Amino acid sequence: MLVTGKEILQKAHEEGYAVGAFNTSNLEMTRAIIEAAEEEKSPVIIQTSQSAITYAGSEEIAMIVRQLAEKASVPVALHLDHGTDWDVVMKCLRDGWTSVMFDGSKYEFEQNIDITKQVIAIAHPMGVTVEAELGKIGGVEDHVKVDAKDATMTDPAEAVEFVEKTGVDYLAIAIGTAHGVYKGDPELDFDRLKDIKSRLNMPIVLHGASGVAEEDIKKAVSLGVNKINIDTDLRQAFQRAMHKVVKEKPDVYDPRKMLQPTSEAVKEVVKTKIRMFGSNDRV
Ligand code: G3H
Ligand code: ZN
Repeated sequence: MLVTGKEILQKAHEEGYAVGAFNTSNLEMTRAIIEAAEEEKSPVIIQTSQSAITYAGSEEIAMIVRQLAEKASVPVALHLDHGTDWDVVMKCLRDGWTSVMFDGSKYEFEQNIDITKQVIAIAHPMGVTVEAELGKIGGVEDHVKVDAKDATMTDPAEAVEFVEKTGVDYLAIAIGTAHGVYKGDPELDFDRLKDIKSRLNMPIVLHGASGVAEEDIKKAVSLGVNKINIDTDLRQAFQRAMHKVVKEKPDVYDPRKMLQPTSEAVKEVVKTKIRMFGSNDRV
């Protein structure tokens, strides 16, 4: 069934687990993610970046995810990931997303508050729930690029003021993770996470979670993270499976046969993450 992000994340917040938010840009990835969630009896969030929307088409990708979500035996939300452009956010609201992220992390604090508030004022009456980002997450996620020197951790006091002034439904915080492939091991600031969660009675979002050690993920969940974004790990699983099929079956030229192993690989990663986040057997 298709639901809002808040419906999924509020329950996760109350019961102390996290739900995976997995990026998609096509039918195969979407189907693999939903099948994995169904097999694990887990709620799931399917998210599209702005560039995935440019690639697939807004109405087209919305139709694919919404159709599969409506038929699914588990709750599924369709979420806009890192919506930095006002027009894209508005289009997603019109085209049927059930959750949107307005990423105003490049703006000054007050401006981020102002625009987030405006997005919420439009989204909430339409029945769509909203994520915002405070602090600046480093690395590269499609069109969002932040140099390590420009990345900034979330200030706990600012987080309280931000949530009070905007009424945002779930908040993405920066505690040391980064988008894309890590060069070294990321060091997460768990004290900061603990502090923020103790001040905010709401779902917290962790970005850049691909490549983060299982014990760190589990600790982050135990300290109150409720939405965990995974993109790079899925892309890499897809890439490995595609390389393998091209290498081992060079005569196969049917796209369906070439894509099937990539879907299976993506599905396996999603299932592993679901169990790691503790959202299995929750439906
Ligand atoms: O917004 C998407 C994510 O934060 C994904 O990050 O590519 O490091 O998994 P990742
Ligand atoms: Zn992100």
